[in-house]
Amino acid sequence: MIKQTKDISDIIMQCQGIDISIYEDSFLKKTLQKRITASTCNSLEDYCTLLKQSSIEGNLLIASLQNNYSEFFRNVLTFAVLERIVLPSLLLRKKKEIRVWSAASAQGQEAYSIAMLMEELRSGDHEKFKYRIFATDKCDAQINLGRIGKYPSSALNNISFKRAEKWFTKQNDVFTIKPELKANIDFSVFDLLNKKTSSPSASIFGNFDIILCANLLFYFNPKNQKQIVHNISKSISDGGYLITGEAEREILLNLDFKEIFPQSGIFQGRTDHRKKIEHGSFNQLSTN
Ligand SMILES: C[S@@+](CC[C@H](N)C(=O)[O-])C[C@H]1O[C@@H](n2cnc3c(N)ncnc32)[C@H](O)[C@@H]1O
Repeated sequence: MIKQTKDISDIIMQCQGIDISIYEDSFLKKTLQKRITASTCNSLEDYCTLLKQSSIEGNLLIASLQNNYSEFFRNVLTFAVLERIVLPSLLLRKKKEIRVWSAASAQGQEAYSIAMLMEELRSGDHEKFKYRIFATDKCDAQINLGRIGKYPSSALNNISFKRAEKWFTKQNDVFTIKPELKANIDFSVFDLLNKKTSSPSASIFGNFDIILCANLLFYFNPKNQKQIVHNISKSISDGGYLITGEAEREILLNLDFKEIFPQSGIFQGRTDHRKKIEHGSFNQLSTN
């Protein structure tokens, strides 16, 4: 059992220039244990020696800390509440344009899922409205895959036959997103832990009605979780929503966000968040 990870973090910082101390401790320890076993080292000390000698092992460790897994309509309850409660209520507020930020979008499945909901609402009874989705990720390879929008049939498990027919063209086992679904999505690289920026520059100003930051926060230690929430909170419009993954709800509940529907992972910030952010006290919280 690994007791502490500081030595490893220091070696990776020295040899690769990457800070892996940002990750949540038990996730880091589990990943390290897997790498120690795979590299056939007998102890943490042996593994430290290997890391100092082999940049290949350093890169393998860093790669094992990255998780790019995503799905269309990944959390069924979240997307049902979005479709039936959140989007109709935003439209009732007579919004002319709905602005969405998918802030760790991996290969774009989350952004395309939202776009399908928007298009379906637009073709229904609702007054015509515009929407814009900003899909960002730290990793440019992921962003490129999102822009291309090609997926194997196995990626479409949560997509109904009707949606698959409407929004994809099929060639052999490859399903490609149709251009009309891409038309309202901007893909760009954006690092949520960059303290100098709080929203993607392509969006000009934040003011997002919905920000999705799902299946990312739990990989980071509490300080970096708060840093990310602090950063993105500045970009949520008044009455806007912040969406996390199922396993990350506690993080936002502990930061006093209010879940609008039980277990949905969809939150609204309390009004005093804005004041805290404006006066910097949330920032102090985030660095404690
Ligand atoms: C597990 S995927 C989640 C994808 C999607 N949000 C979902 O719920 O299915 C996590 C994504 O976060 C991205 N990521 C990791 N660190 C990041 C950071 N500091 N800023 C922005 N994106 C980051 C990864 O590149 C990866 O694509």
